[in-house]
Amino acid sequence: MSKVALVTGGARGIGAAISIALKNAGYTVAANYAGNDEAAEKFTAETGIKTYKWSVADYDACAAGVAQVEADLGPVAVLVNNAGITRDAMFHKMTPQMWKEVIDTNLSGVFNMTHPIWGGMRDRKFGRVINISSINGQKGQAGQANYSAAKAGDLGMTKALAQEGARAGITVNAICPGYIGTEMVRAIDEKVLNERIIPQIPVGRLGEPEEIARCVVFLAAEDAGFITGATITANGGQYFV
Ligand code: CAA
Repeated sequence: MSKVALVTGGARGIGAAISIALKNAGYTVAANYAGNDEAAEKFTAETGIKTYKWSVADYDACAAGVAQVEADLGPVAVLVNNAGITRDAMFHKMTPQMWKEVIDTNLSGVFNMTHPIWGGMRDRKFGRVINISSINGQKGQAGQANYSAAKAGDLGMTKALAQEGARAGITVNAICPGYIGTEMVRAIDEKVLNERIIPQIPVGRLGEPEEIARCVVFLAAEDAGFITGATITANGGQYFV
């Protein structure tokens, strides 16, 4: 039987490319999404990938959602923590709400999703947890104190959990995408994107979601078991760690 992969935020943007790539690699995929029913229905119709609605910011909803996916499809072997939001503003204009929403989704969301799945992975002595962080968690980004903090937090959590999971056959790795041509990036003011951001990318273009998905497929593989606590950077040369 094929392994089950659960991708959060898996019906749009980078997550959709990840869901499709995992399906093409032979996994049974469940794509979680938070709000956009229309996009999720369209995604299922086009790909045959089942979608499940809950917010990764809500621990109880995550536990219930994971239980539903496992009842429908079987135990989750691969978890891709991809769901993320932005609430960009220069710090002097950032509200406590903008801070909280981003931390709740982009950082606590990784706890909320991984925690209900972790025990089963330990029991089965196999797991792949892949956290989609960001270039902006590595270098920081003006206008993103909330997002940069959450994404840097994801990297710390990845390294801690890698140590805990190692003896149980669970690898935990992170991917740091640079600026990828999704709705999230295209929502940036066009002038800011064209004049400040794209000129900083040595390859001279935004990345493609598929260029992140291939990193996920690599880390999810059974023979990637010696790779854990690592960060794969895919940013067109914009920033080297
Ligand atoms: N460094 C330092 N100062 C900066 C700056 C930077 N990178 N960018 C802007 N500033 C300064 C401006 O020069 C300006 O200064 P003055 O007032 O002295 O002229 C001041 O900050 C305000 O700039 P804006 O006019 O741009 O302010 P705004 O309130 O209209 O917009 C913003 C602020 C929404 C944060 C906007 O600058 C922006 O969208 N920046 C891009 C943020 C970004 O990269 N987000 C990534 C989203 S995609 C993503 O997150 C995916 C991923 O993982 C990569």
